[in-house]
Amino acid sequence: MDVKPTTALRCLFADSIADLETIVARITDPQDWLDAEIIGCRFSPVAVTTSRFGMNCKDPQVLMKAAALLNQLPARVKVGVHMHFASSTLGLQQWFGVAQGYLRVAVNFERLLDCKLAVMDFGGGWPSHLLDHEETHSYLVKLFTETRAAFPTLEAVQFEPGKSITERAGAVLTKVIEIREMERSMPDGAPTAEGEGSAGCSEVDDEEDDLDAHGDKKVDKKGSQNRAAVVDACISDMGSMPLHVHPLVWQAGEGQGNWSSVEQGKDQLWGSICMEFDVLGAAFKLPETAAVGDHVLIAFTGAYDTTMAYDFADGKARDMLVV
Ligand SMILES: Cc1ncc(COP(=O)(O)O)c(C=O)c1O
Repeated sequence: MDVKPTTALRCLFADSIADLETIVARITDPQDWLDAEIIGCRFSPVAVTTSRFGMNCKDPQVLMKAAALLNQLPARVKVGVHMHFASSTLGLQQWFGVAQGYLRVAVNFERLLDCKLAVMDFGGGWPSHLLDHEETHSYLVKLFTETRAAFPTLEAVQFEPGKSITERAGAVLTKVIEIREMERSMPDGAPTAEGEGSAGCSEVDDEEDDLDAHGDKKVDKKGSQNRAAVVDACISDMGSMPLHVHPLVWQAGEGQGNWSSVEQGKDQLWGSICMEFDVLGAAFKLPETAAVGDHVLIAFTGAYDTTMAYDFADGKARDMLVV
């Protein structure tokens, strides 16, 4: 069923030339209800990474075709450009590198248009702790300054803050069921955002078993070994793990209110199912007193995690408390 909006949309960004053809045809059709204040193109990342979304801005034919289509829009419709690639996946520096490359694309793209750009949209995928971070502020100021200099008549610079707003709304509370030694290097097998990583141990050279990912001996100077806390939760409780980083908060024993954040280190938090990739936390230091029965709060699971939980080995079947 077609749902007809009562007011025009603010922005509509086309994901491909085919998409833009459809949008322009509909906007210019007086019989069609579709309308928007701003129509624009989403361009795929310029460098560093690849994406299946957005138009290929490295292809001049694509740029010319997109501009020709946008030039057919009625004068009342303004034009914008858009990029989206999660900074939670790319990391801060690479994300700003991609955004600056995209600014240059937009400057050249504007030359093909009959009008000035009205909106630059830099997308979403912002982890809340990155937005709060002091370092991010100077990057953002630089990006805004460069954008204003490149497009003095721009109406708006937009960000899409979905993840940064919602991720703190969720957490997974679980209990330690075993503290165990980590005898073997974990394969770098927890899948990465790019889908890399091996699930099995067999690729790890035996001679390197007592070395960590940096080639250091696993037994530290104090003679203690890296450890893993196995908890009564698993990867299916958080569908998109380990694409997003989650802070861990630890409570020794039950009900004493003694929660504390964990330091960085070389210990891990493992789920309780039989998959190699069931790793819920890494690169932190287990509290010296960590013991069976302790509680762990895996924080910031409100975006792309609990909502993506799937039905395997009790994922989704746990108690849910909405506060
Ligand atoms: C264009 C666009 N904006 C935003 C998002 C999601 O970002 P957020 O979760 O921060 O809203 C996506 C999802 O991948 C997207 O494709």
